[in-house]
Amino acid sequence: MTSEANAVPDQPETHHDTVRAIAWQDGRLVLLDQRRLPAVCEHMSLDTPEAAAEAIRSMVVRGAPAIGIAAAYGVVLAARKAYANEREGWRQAIAADCESLRAARPTAVNLAWAIERMRARFPEGPGDPEPALLAEAKAIHDQDIAANRRMGAIGAAFLKSGARVLTHCNAGSLATGGYGTALGVIRSAYACGKIAQVHAGETRPWLQGARLTAWELLRDRIPVTLLADSAAAYLMQRGGIDWVIVGADRIAANGDVANKIGTYGLAVAARAHGVRFMVAAPISTLDPEALNGRAIPIENRPPEEIMAFDGQRVAAPGVEIWNPVFDVTPAELIDVLVTEKGAIEHPNTANPNALLTRDDRVV
Ligand code: MRU
Repeated sequence: MTSEANAVPDQPETHHDTVRAIAWQDGRLVLLDQRRLPAVCEHMSLDTPEAAAEAIRSMVVRGAPAIGIAAAYGVVLAARKAYANEREGWRQAIAADCESLRAARPTAVNLAWAIERMRARFPEGPGDPEPALLAEAKAIHDQDIAANRRMGAIGAAFLKSGARVLTHCNAGSLATGGYGTALGVIRSAYACGKIAQVHAGETRPWLQGARLTAWELLRDRIPVTLLADSAAAYLMQRGGIDWVIVGADRIAANGDVANKIGTYGLAVAARAHGVRFMVAAPISTLDPEALNGRAIPIENRPPEEIMAFDGQRVAAPGVEIWNPVFDVTPAELIDVLVTEKGAIEHPNTANPNALLTRDDRVV
């Protein structure tokens, strides 16, 4: 582990964009440990595919695009291991590690997308596969940041000057290669002076809003006000929000969106109060095979996450606990879906997958 003093990733100079959660350094995958933010800013340095899969499972790295990128580097580590053990048969030897990376979290389709894209780049013929696969993982990483900047510009164009926005979970630099999806739109809009106020919901039970979004925005000098998740509808009722802007973990063919639990409730409240609702996500989050939201697998996490708060048990002993960590927002509640290829207004009346070509899925 390394502390912030010798923080590993290069920090870009760009205004309001200094946070990076993933780096490849000296042949290792370096991850900012998001479980410990904001109290501790520490990096983990990983050199096995097993450690990469465990980091995804245990939320060291989280956010759909970020876990896709981490998995791509995980495939590089898996190829190194397989080639060291089986010079000829590394393509077979790597399969179990790819499967365990893919299974690390079920809802974010970016994970399977990244592994398929890496698989399509397995080099033919003899020789060490690592250089070619590392180049592909870096391309996935760089393209994600470029896509976020593009989405930022596209999404910000929808906002009027003085916009008051609410975001949920963390769809920022920490959840992506950098810049963020929902927070990319907010960064872009803030940089051109359109944002009057950013609100972040705390996002029980992992508190991605309170711990991560608040930390990331404040670090980049974007003022943010934190509120309890249950305060959001009241704020909308009082006329305090113009736009809800969120990311996505998987977008079905009909435009239904799986995102952090609580997103659906925000969409319902937004529609009831005339607040507009934007989803920003890269093309790698579209899943044409899921015909609608019912086909999206929803991750359930352990009851302990609800039972306790900051390590202290709060729930009554013996109570049953239900802990789905994503929900599905129907397309008809979404006003704008922003991708790096453009925006779709009213995605329930359009086909979001029209943006998708075969070349985008496996380059
Ligand atoms: O459980 P998490 O923290 O991985 O959930 C993250 C989200 O729900 C994000 O909103 C989503 O992945 C989009 S991140 C750009």
